[in-house]
Amino acid sequence: TQVDLLEGYEGKCVLTKKQMEGIIEDFLARMEEGLEREEQQLKMLPSFVEKMPCGKEEGEFLAIDLGGTNSRVVRLALKGGQVREMVAHEDPIPKELMVGTTKELFDFIARQVKTFLGKHNTLAQSGQGKGGKIPIGFCFSYPMKQTGLANGEIVNWNKGFDIKDTFGKDLVELLEGSLSEYKIQGKVFAMVNDTVGTLAAHKFIDQDTQLGVILGTGSNAAYIEGKRRITKLQGGETKREEDKMIVNIEWGNFKSSRLPYLEEDREVDERTPNKGKQHFEKMISGMYLGEMVRLACLRASAEGNLFGGSQKDKLQQAWTFPTSLVSRIDGLGPEKLDQVKKELSAALDIPRAEITHGCARFVSRLCQLVGDRSAALAATGVTAIYRYLMQSKQVSPNQRFVVAVDGGLFEHYPRYPERMQQTFISLLGKEQAKRVELVHSPDGSGIGTAVIAAATAR
Ligand code: BG6
Ligand code: GLC
Repeated sequence: TQVDLLEGYEGKCVLTKKQMEGIIEDFLARMEEGLEREEQQLKMLPSFVEKMPCGKEEGEFLAIDLGGTNSRVVRLALKGGQVREMVAHEDPIPKELMVGTTKELFDFIARQVKTFLGKHNTLAQSGQGKGGKIPIGFCFSYPMKQTGLANGEIVNWNKGFDIKDTFGKDLVELLEGSLSEYKIQGKVFAMVNDTVGTLAAHKFIDQDTQLGVILGTGSNAAYIEGKRRITKLQGGETKREEDKMIVNIEWGNFKSSRLPYLEEDREVDERTPNKGKQHFEKMISGMYLGEMVRLACLRASAEGNLFGGSQKDKLQQAWTFPTSLVSRIDGLGPEKLDQVKKELSAALDIPRAEITHGCARFVSRLCQLVGDRSAALAATGVTAIYRYLMQSKQVSPNQRFVVAVDGGLFEHYPRYPERMQQTFISLLGKEQAKRVELVHSPDGSGIGTAVIAAATAR
């Protein structure tokens, strides 16, 4: 029955402190492995960002930001510790380009930049870059293996992207190549992951920023590490204690038998091009929550007579239950079931009369559980890094622990920060939990990429 099913979901999605402690233990072990060796579950990717933003970075930059859903071009000026002017343009990345060729994708970005500069071109004349080239920061929201700040190859695609011919090619060369084909004279000073950009952007305005986290289409985090501890880095061990580098954890790929897997998680995984990978991300991030709810509803329709059991067809089609709907239903809560019915009826094209109060309550609770589990897991990840930085004495007990966060899930999912805070309280206790300050850092990656480019161009 629906009641039995809900009990099952509750048992999994409401995490106990003990469970979360177990997850943290595994997470920390995987972090250590990733710092020691290449190609581990947690990739712990060196970003080559070694000069931490101090707020004094200056200059005009173009940030190109390839996210999971959108591609953005941002023009900004840094001066006097502030981001002075900003014009941004955002386009959704066409679905077919996510599975096309590398050249098509980079040409799409180049065309976008071309259009943007046609409207807002002051940078081209500023001649700030080498040889009058436009100085560019490139934010690339996928794992990359870098050997320097302005080079790197993709490790693997995810978030629905599956482009076969990107491997083994330098991403900066690809971008500059496409730009020059469109007669844009640009020089990429830095290529960074979105988590690295978000961390850097917030550090520019708040020196106590310790972490950059993305909770959007995908999910990931970056932090500042002592170079000596990144033992896989050549020459790392000879570095001074104070030498630092931002490390992109790529936490999305975390796996553990202690994670609260549902049957639906395995089914979601089956439906993705990166099957077997990014388990943590698939339990947390915006790309997957809707699909998870759809699969749970489908099961409830077969086993628990949800929607009279007659709506299996409507629920049959993969990826048709958007996370925005989960978010709206969760936001309405159990008191507004009439509106939940309305949402479901419109989205799934099911007659209102066939959605009983009980069905609406079931879906409402399901959405809430999926949202709770996502936030609890994200907060567990943050707590693991908090513990790591405290235990390794890289952050002192009286320092603030500011976490810069960006991404659609954090921004739009109802009470997401509050839910995360609940987990901090349960894991760290009320007093210590107050130290963890979650701050939304909108547009963080673009700004951060420019800040990093500025520090390098200087
Ligand atoms: C945007 C950043 O604000 O958030 C991107 O500019 C980042 O770099 C993105 O990838 C993540 O959020 P979402 O919801 O678009 O995946
Ligand atoms: C995916 C990518 C990672 C990125 C995250 C958030 O997990 O692998 O690089 O930071 O999505 O966009």
